[in-house]
Amino acid sequence: KVLDGKSYKWFMHKELHEVPRKIKEQIMMPQEDLDSFVKTILEAERIFITAAGTAFYAALAGKFLISNFGGPYVEAILCSEFIDTLPNMPENSVVIAVSQSGETADTIEAIRYAREKHGAKICSIVNVVGSSLTRYSDEVIITTAGLEIAVASQKAYCTQVSALTLIALRIAELKETYSVEEIKKFRDALLKTVDIAENILIEEGKIREIGEKISNETNIYFLARGISTSAALEGALKLKEIAYIHTEAYAAGESKHGPIALIEEGFPCIFIAPPDATYSRLIGNIMEMKSRGAKIISVVADFDENVTEISDYTIRIPIENNKYAIATSIVPFVLTLQLMAYFVSDFKGLDPDKPKNLAKSVTVK
Ligand code: G6P
Repeated sequence: KVLDGKSYKWFMHKELHEVPRKIKEQIMMPQEDLDSFVKTILEAERIFITAAGTAFYAALAGKFLISNFGGPYVEAILCSEFIDTLPNMPENSVVIAVSQSGETADTIEAIRYAREKHGAKICSIVNVVGSSLTRYSDEVIITTAGLEIAVASQKAYCTQVSALTLIALRIAELKETYSVEEIKKFRDALLKTVDIAENILIEEGKIREIGEKISNETNIYFLARGISTSAALEGALKLKEIAYIHTEAYAAGESKHGPIALIEEGFPCIFIAPPDATYSRLIGNIMEMKSRGAKIISVVADFDENVTEISDYTIRIPIENNKYAIATSIVPFVLTLQLMAYFVSDFKGLDPDKPKNLAKSVTVK
């Protein structure tokens, strides 16, 4: 597993190190492909987004990105729940499907149902050219991840979210939610995530240290608000899949309605705490856990002070202190959580590339 003359023990580690160049290629994708995709979305009366597994957490990030940038409401539905959630699908709908393989049986079933029974248009974000999903779609954005070997998706996720950010920004541009200058600043900030990802990887030893600290845990909560809830879900999924630790991700505001019952001295809670609109409310949630003895591990911006002060450990994300950088920082935050899961898996002597009972592409319903 060699990349740039450097050899990696596992494909997952090598593929995580491909993230900067892969997201760069995605962000530089042809404008025409993006335009017709976005046009189809904006012509619809109702917009759904569907996927499975990690791709669903990319979809969830996309739902937040589109609305955070002033776009229309997007309903995210797991593909395995799609038909049962929408027995009477509204007319003139668009379904955005997100998939690495383009072969996940539940995803294909959901979009075929939407298309064939309800005349929905299908816009898919897919990594494999010529896959079943591309054949059933009206519009396709091909992600630039390239071949992904590790079963648990990571670089594909990062390209999916980069593509969804471009979609959100294009919608914002067409709807004139922001001035032309501001849109440009958001786009520049998105491009800077390439360097941020690069820096995270250069400094990955720090993430490894935190990984070691949590590697003996048996239960971990991942808590966040807003778009970061999708990051919490992805971080929890990765750690569960490749390090076999029981994790649970929750919207932090909901954590007092259940998860808090298990908190005792030393119970690890990982908070994803970017300095966005959720920040001060999240601090309230951190305090609720901390005051009951929880061990607080937080993922914060480099310049963070308040959450750092109340955390036992922090992982710091090197983003700039401005609204453009903050609004486009979901990939750096998630990349960090994916790397941490990788290090925990490796530290425990497990095989992160082929977790037991999991398949790269699930072609059964
Ligand atoms: C499996 C893989 C995941 C992936 C999911 C959806 O569970 O292990 O990594 O996210 O399928 O796959 P897709 O190919 O549709 O993205």
